[in-house]
Order: sequence, then structure tokens, then C-alpha cells
Amino acid sequence: MILVTGGAGYIGCVLVEELLAKGESVRVYDKLYFGETGLGRLRDKVDLVQGDLRQFDSRVLDGIDSVIHLAGLSNDPTAEFNPKANYEMNTVATGVLAKACKQRGIKRFTFASSCSIYDRGLFSEDLLYDENSPVAPRAAYAVSNYEAERILLDMCDDDFCPVILRQGTVYGFSPRMRYDLVVNTFVKDALIKGILTVFCGGEMWRPLVDVSDTAKAHICCVEAPAEKVRGQIFNLAYKNYRILELAHWVREALKDRIKLDIQVDYSHYKARSYRVSSQKIETVLGFKPIVAVKESVQLMIQKIYDYGYTDFLHPRYYNIEWMTLLYNMEQTLAKIGSVF
Ligand SMILES: NC(=O)c1ccc[n+]([C@@H]2O[C@H](COP(=O)([O-])OP(=O)(O)OC[C@H]3O[C@@H](n4cnc5c(N)ncnc54)[C@H](O)[C@@H]3O)[C@@H](O)[C@H]2O)c1
Repeated sequence: MILVTGGAGYIGCVLVEELLAKGESVRVYDKLYFGETGLGRLRDKVDLVQGDLRQFDSRVLDGIDSVIHLAGLSNDPTAEFNPKANYEMNTVATGVLAKACKQRGIKRFTFASSCSIYDRGLFSEDLLYDENSPVAPRAAYAVSNYEAERILLDMCDDDFCPVILRQGTVYGFSPRMRYDLVVNTFVKDALIKGILTVFCGGEMWRPLVDVSDTAKAHICCVEAPAEKVRGQIFNLAYKNYRILELAHWVREALKDRIKLDIQVDYSHYKARSYRVSSQKIETVLGFKPIVAVKESVQLMIQKIYDYGYTDFLHPRYYNIEWMTLLYNMEQTLAKIGSVF
């Protein structure tokens, strides 16, 4: 059985579906910040355990052969909202989970890290980073991922086989949808405003990858021979894009449906920017992401309507808005006791 932490999240819901389609048994461990509806019709096919990784009970690992670890705060704004909780969840809890796996002889452990570790800002030297490039992460989210990587790699030996996937920014439809990721945001803006607004002149670079390719990459790393992946870091991107180019691709994908304007804003210049090489995962594992932005956007539109996710401004689609709302509710409930 495979344990997917964060399996009710954006990537998790797509990954769980892929695993089940391959005939795997799946247990999901998730705090369920966004509920369990993303698992939808898969809900009865998985063993769902609700819980916070910081209070992780190692019995969750009973019967588990390998772990795909996605749980944690998953972007800069939520990490900065509560840096302490971010560090506890993304770094400390990752170490605790990995240690428990090692003690129980669970060897294979993939970790959803992030290419934002490479970020040096928009005005840094324009380099293509590979897995050996020196990094100096600064933001809370990137630091927490990088330190989790170090903990996992320090634990690596014949009995424990951690694999780090430094994912680019993910795009595409998931039954637990996010509209706070750049391509998905463009699609949402296209549908509700007919305008794509690009900040900082759209000059920032981003590595991007489709959500189903991301799911498949984790599965590939679980299935690969240990000697190819043990203690390895792999960047994962379909391609690097400047944000302005990305807006053009989204406009191209939607040209038969919507007439889109692209508005370029030059008023501020503070932004993340980085581009990466994904050659290593292709060379070592023969894995290459295949879903292009245009294709993913077209499928996304279709699925948004199939699933009825057209309440585009609902906070549940935006991690920072949702967490802020939950936090404020928690404060209010602590004072008033209960709603009725
Ligand atoms: N989506 C991206 O573009 C992207 C890019 C690079 C890396 N990542 C990483 O991939 C992973 C998954 O991202 P996602 O987009 O699916 O995010 P998501 O926010 O949709 O899902 C994260 C899931 O983890 C759960 N979770 C959070 N904290 C938890 C805790 N303390 N204990 C148990 N469960 C907890 C949440 O309830 C949620 O279901 C994250 O670790 C993220 O940092 C994502």
C-alpha cells in the first residue's frame, strides 16, 4: 500500500486517481484544510486518515510499502502567514515522518519539493539551474523545503531511499482545484474578465509542469530501481516560460472561445524568477513531462464546467484566502463558543 500525505490536495487528488488506476492500494493522510470533496468518487476507494502531520501517529504507516509526501503549506503567502507553523509542517514534520518510515523499514519516500528554492529574484543573473547549482533560498516556503530536503538526504542509506522532486509551478485541472497558480489564474481571469494581467512586464521566468505529469513523476520515482534514485534530486518542468509568453499561450489555447486582451503592468519589479534544467530526470529515469500548457488549458476549461467549479472567486480555490478565513473563524469561534 502507498501512503500519500496531502492526498486530498491539488496534486494529491490527481495522483491518487493515477495510483488507483494502476491497481495500487492507497492510504491518504491529510489535515483536510480544503475538505475531502476533491477525492470525490475516489473517497470510498482509499483509506482516508484525517490528521495533522505535526501530531503524526506512526500507526498510520501500518501496512505501508512506500510514501509520497505532498502534505504541507504549499506556497509563499501561506508560509509567510505563519512562518512557525510552516517550518513545523514543512520541515520538522517531514523529518519525523521520514524517521518513522526508516524505523519501520519503509524505504521509498518521494518528497514534493519546489524549484522556488532556486529563486534569486528578477534582477539576478539569468542562469539555467540544475540540481547541482548552489542555492541560497530566502523565503520561508523555499527555506522550509530546502531544509526538509537536507534532512531527508542526511537520512539516506541502504535502508532508506528518499527521492526529491523539485517541482516547477504546476498547472492543470484537479478535482481539488487551485486558481492561485499562474496558468490556472490566467484561465480564471480569461473566463471572468477577458483580460490577462501580467505584472513586472511579464519578465519573470518560471519552470512549469502539468499536474498529471507531476503525479506520474512521483509514481516513476516510486517504481524506479533504488540505485537510480536513492538520495537523488530531480527538477521537474515541462518547460521554462517568461510569464508574458505564458499569457500568450493561454490566449492561443482559448482563441476559438474568448477574445482575450493581455495587459502588461510595468509598475513594480519585485518578483520571483528562475529557470531550471529538467534534463536529469529524463536522462536517469527516461521521464519527460508531455502535457503542454495549451493542451492542459483546453482540458481545464472543459473540466471546470463538468465539475461546476465556476464559483471562481470562492476562497477555497486560493490557499491564502482560505487559510486567512479559517484563521479568522477560529479566532471568532474561540470568543463566541459556537455559531448557534
Ligand atoms: N502546486 C504547485 O505548483 C507546487 C509546486 C512545487 C511544489 N509543490 C508542493 O507540492 C505539495 C502539494 O502541493 P498542492 O499544490 O497539492 O497543495 P495543496 O495545498 O492543494 O495540498 C496540500 C495538502 O496537504 C494538506 N496538509 C497541509 N498541511 C498539512 C499537515 N500539517 N498535516 C497533514 N496534511 C496537511 C492539506 O490539507 C492539503 O490537502 C506541497 O508540498 C507543495 O509545497 C506544489
